[in-house]
Amino acid sequence: MIVIDHVAKQFAAPSPAPWGLGFKQGLPKTVHAVRDVSLTAADGCVTGLLGPNGAGKTTTLRLLAGLIAPDAGTLSVDGIDVVAQPREALARMGLLGDARGLYPRLSARENIVYFGMLQGMGRGAANARAEALARTLDMTALLDRRTDGFSQGERMKTALARALVHDPANVVLDEPTNGLDVMATRALREALRFLRTPEGGSKCIVFSSHIMSEVERVCDTIVLVAGGRTVASGTVEALLDQTGETDLEDAVVKLVFDEKRQAAGQAGGPAARQAEAVSP
Ligand SMILES: Nc1ncnc2c1ncn2[C@@H]1O[C@H](COP(=O)(O)OP(=O)(O)OP(=O)(O)O)[C@@H](O)[C@H]1O
Ligand SMILES: [Mg+2]
Repeated sequence: MIVIDHVAKQFAAPSPAPWGLGFKQGLPKTVHAVRDVSLTAADGCVTGLLGPNGAGKTTTLRLLAGLIAPDAGTLSVDGIDVVAQPREALARMGLLGDARGLYPRLSARENIVYFGMLQGMGRGAANARAEALARTLDMTALLDRRTDGFSQGERMKTALARALVHDPANVVLDEPTNGLDVMATRALREALRFLRTPEGGSKCIVFSSHIMSEVERVCDTIVLVAGGRTVASGTVEALLDQTGETDLEDAVVKLVFDEKRQAAGQAGGPAARQAEAVSP
């Protein structure tokens, strides 16, 4: 089970190059990537983190992976605090980040087995698991090729197998279907559906996307993030009820638009928000 409670994270905005156009004045000094995100992802469920580009999805998942520390709020995995006990929390998670981050000189098998061994598995067990995952993900023919030169979909499959090698109770995937063809997308969807069942281990699965149809098909619960905030959460039906819409896309557009209007109102309109961003 994954619980994210009111997390916030801001970054210093990279300053423009000195040879730029000279519009330095008025540029924000900080970027509020995540302002207030909360979610609870239960075991045996697929929880979709849905939101437009720049909503804060990847930043939230990077916080969960312990790659960056939150400015506020808490994140826990099976009750283990990610900031206080990052290694213990990480051991309970399979992570697929937005950068797939494979070692290009190693084969797919070596990438997967190496990661399994880092997670405390024996070489033989990690190898057997790599082969089983390769069969599930239809990538057996790739196993002994160096990942250098892999296509986007091939890299994603390898990274997914690596994330699952230690059979984690929690699986966290950032836009896993990016760059996948129809067959691979279907295979991934099937794999996620299986992983949440008791036979698949009743995994807790969190996966981010901005593709409405994908989230609708796979997720039991949706957490909608916009402008760095959780703006709604619940089943597809609950979001439709809440907005009075019959189509998820229309419901999401309405909720995202409401968030934008509220944020502008709270800060006294766009000009005030700009001023807030500029202030130190
Ligand atoms: N390291 C960073 N430095 C500066 N700004 C950042 C950094 N990381 C994220 N941001 C900013 O924070 C905001 C949220 O980014 P994030 O990558 O979390 O969005 P996202 O929801 O994953 O978007 P997408 O759907 O495009 O992947 C963006 O405006 C982004 O530019
Ligand atoms: Mg992202």
